[in-house]
Amino acid sequence: MLKNLEYIEAEAKRRIAAASDSKDLEDLRVEFLGRKGKLTELLRGLGSLGPEERPRAGARANEVKVAIQQTLDSRIAELSAGEKREPLLDYTLPGRRVNVRRRHPVNQVIEELVFIFRDLGCSVAEGPLIETEHYNFDALNTPPDHPARDEKDTLFLRDFPLLLRTETSPVQVRTLEKARPPVRVIAPGRCYRNDTADARHYPVFHQIEGLWVDEGVSFAHLKGILLEFAKSLFGPEAQVRFRPHFFPFTEPSAEIEATCPACAGKGCRTCSGTGWIELGGAGMVDPAVLAPLGIDPEIYTGFAFGIGPERIAMVRYGVSDIRLFYENDLRFLRQF
Ligand code: DAH
Repeated sequence: MLKNLEYIEAEAKRRIAAASDSKDLEDLRVEFLGRKGKLTELLRGLGSLGPEERPRAGARANEVKVAIQQTLDSRIAELSAGEKREPLLDYTLPGRRVNVRRRHPVNQVIEELVFIFRDLGCSVAEGPLIETEHYNFDALNTPPDHPARDEKDTLFLRDFPLLLRTETSPVQVRTLEKARPPVRVIAPGRCYRNDTADARHYPVFHQIEGLWVDEGVSFAHLKGILLEFAKSLFGPEAQVRFRPHFFPFTEPSAEIEATCPACAGKGCRTCSGTGWIELGGAGMVDPAVLAPLGIDPEIYTGFAFGIGPERIAMVRYGVSDIRLFYENDLRFLRQF
């Protein structure tokens, strides 16, 4: 009996030391200490021993049982400590890129412009990308033979008179159909032209239209608003200048330019040495636009402007080719 106990203790200790996970250890516990385990089976034979042998064997059997249990416990502790110490991170692996979502650079500029004009009292209006000849041309005082109406410039849809709007100016008409002065709106959105893509043109682009109609609105107000706008966008040193131009729906009309923010007006590559960059077009809303909408041009006057966010984004971010904005190359877009 005593010999058998030695054997069992030795075997149990050896196998517990070799066990490599908690499942193996549980199996060993059952095999040795369980109800049908090896030690338990052996103890059943205690009754058949003589009165001298029995107490010693009983005491020894208890010692073996405790010893096996302790060996099991310490091996469990050892294994779980080892599992915890296992490194959770492999510091030698290359880092995983975190993809932070961000807005498209052109949309960043549009959002900023909208915020600036909202601070100046404008609400935001929108119009459809598919327009009719009426809204895109007729209601904007564009004569039937105006070159902009040519298929060379405008993308017409098969269903006449539908077309892809060539500017955001039709939103002026849609706004004034519904609202009465005072009207102050800003209308950002996509426009389309039948242009061949090159570094400065793309068949899809954006405009931000502004419209301000009230009693007594003058060209001086237009200049003041656009100067405020340029200062908010490019900094307090920024200036604007106006060059005479022609648009069918404004009279007088002007091209707006702002101090080049890249060289603060000194002249650089960005502004082709002129010190000025083009922001867009503007002018006083032509009475021929207001009158058909039931707005009396003798009482009300207004100004309007259209600003190109792509050009601003190019200047701001030093992008020399407009096509980059529309290629959806993530290596380009991730930089903004
Ligand atoms: N729609 C003009 C263009 O695409 C820009 C423009 C000029 C908008 C004068 C206006 C404006 O509202 O008054 O060239």
